[in-house]
Amino acid sequence: MNFRLANKSDASALARVHYKCSKRQKGSFLHELGYFFLKIYYLIHLQHKNGIILVAEDEQGIHGFVSGTFETQELLKSFRKNRIKLFLATLPALVKSPKIITKLIARYNFIHQKTNAMQFGITQGPKIDYWAWDPDTKENVSVILFKRFLNIVFAFGLQSIKGEIDEDNNNIISLHKHMGAQVINELNMENNRKRFIIEYLNDKKQVG
Ligand SMILES: CC(C)(COP(=O)(O)OP(=O)(O)OC[C@H]1O[C@@H](n2cnc3c(N)ncnc32)[C@H](O)[C@@H]1OP(=O)(O)O)[C@@H](O)C(=O)NCCC(=O)NCCS
Repeated sequence: MNFRLANKSDASALARVHYKCSKRQKGSFLHELGYFFLKIYYLIHLQHKNGIILVAEDEQGIHGFVSGTFETQELLKSFRKNRIKLFLATLPALVKSPKIITKLIARYNFIHQKTNAMQFGITQGPKIDYWAWDPDTKENVSVILFKRFLNIVFAFGLQSIKGEIDEDNNNIISLHKHMGAQVINELNMENNRKRFIIEYLNDKKQVG
């Protein structure tokens, strides 16, 4: 398995892996918006100048990735700038399941940082956006990939990087803790669910 940074030609593969992985992620919402939405999402992410996406691939293609940004505010700005494109990309999912409109509006208000918007996560600074590993891949280097991502962002001199994990995804929270993350905050979301904000410090304490 090789590691490399993603480029614009990877948007479809990232969307495919994200769609597949998030279906087994408890509490996940983005996959409800469908593959087409995710493809536009990653095209925007890949064009964002502060973004960083590390992929693991072999001759069969991409099996996993970690996406992030050095500046969340700039990534949110890119999503705001492309809101029409993103909205159009949700139409197939909305036609299939109109009830997702409520969740969509809540996230729209958050991304636009409207007063009283429900807070879904980090709005500033460096952020781990998504970590995905295809469960059908025989060789599993998900943890090595994640640590490589941390090493790369810390090599740029970051003091810390944050991420968000839903409480339903408790196995992954404990995996992050095992790798050195700390839970620094919690947010209340729809249906009394909690989302934890985790942080990795650039203090060489991560495992491996
Ligand atoms: C998150 C994700 C990338 C993790 O990858 P994974 O390969 O499924 O991770 P695993 O749970 O198999 O754990 C990987 C390794 O860490 C070990 N591990 C897991 N939890 C551990 C813990 N708490 N303590 C010690 N070791 C642990 C596992 O035993 C495994 O080791 P092995 O490879 O030697 O068997 C993957 O589950 C995924 O794509 N999930 C859906 C998307 C998601 O939830 N992303 C996170 C939110 S952004």
